[in-house]
Amino acid sequence: MYRYVKSFFGDKNKENTEISKEALLERPLPTHVAIIMDGNGRWATKRGLPRSAGHRAGMETLKKIVETSLDLGLKHLTVYAFSTENWKRPREEINSLMHLLVEYIDKELNKLKDNGVCIRTLGHIEELPEKAVISVKKAIKDTQENSKLYLQIALNYGSRREIIDAVKVIAIETAAGKIKSEDIEENIIEKYLYTAGLPDPDLMIRTSGEMRLSNFLLWQSAYTEFWSTPVLWPDFTQNLLYEAIYEYQHRKRRLGGI
Ligand code: FPP
Repeated sequence: MYRYVKSFFGDKNKENTEISKEALLERPLPTHVAIIMDGNGRWATKRGLPRSAGHRAGMETLKKIVETSLDLGLKHLTVYAFSTENWKRPREEINSLMHLLVEYIDKELNKLKDNGVCIRTLGHIEELPEKAVISVKKAIKDTQENSKLYLQIALNYGSRREIIDAVKVIAIETAAGKIKSEDIEENIIEKYLYTAGLPDPDLMIRTSGEMRLSNFLLWQSAYTEFWSTPVLWPDFTQNLLYEAIYEYQHRKRRLGGI
């Protein structure tokens, strides 16, 4: 049976309820957790700080959540770090995000490598600033043999663009006679998505109370369990990840059946 270790106020005040790792390990963990790390800007504004301070705090949360994922034994963690729409933000904010990405990799790479993390990306990384491209490519190369935790960082990622990219290649291959149009099924589409070979997310977490997918893994999340918290990403904790997983473990997934 699952159990709470500490329950100060009962289920009504879930944020005050701590779930133990042991309780989570009594049921199958989600194989793939995806996270929309939202609310960095609001976190900073509430404190009278520049938005970049919110992103920096968000980076610290990301470090903790990767550690928690490793400790729990999650296999796949996918985080939405920069969308195709984020280019609309002020240049200064984009620069600070790119700078943080390079800093995150420079500071964390050795540890991630030693801890068995395999870093991969989703999205058009070649369009990022050169320094970021170099850092990201090094991270991918240096960790490619690892298999304890697959960390997918979505960078310059947009799900519609991903689907358009796939459709274009499929159209070219169909015209060339390599694919028969009558053979185009889900497995063919999946093969041409950036996520080819990756299991669909079982659990999608979004912070800051928003209830949108925001162009993230639209195809892949057809049957994903969605979990949202009003907590802003910089304030997200290990316990909230546990809570999301716990709730996932107690939902009935019918996957279209009864
Ligand atoms: C959304 O918050 C967050 C982002 C667009 C960036 C996510 C980046 C990090 C968590 C830190 C950096 C980590 C890496 C690997 C680059 P928002 O700015 O949209 O917040 P708001 O909705 O409150 O304005």
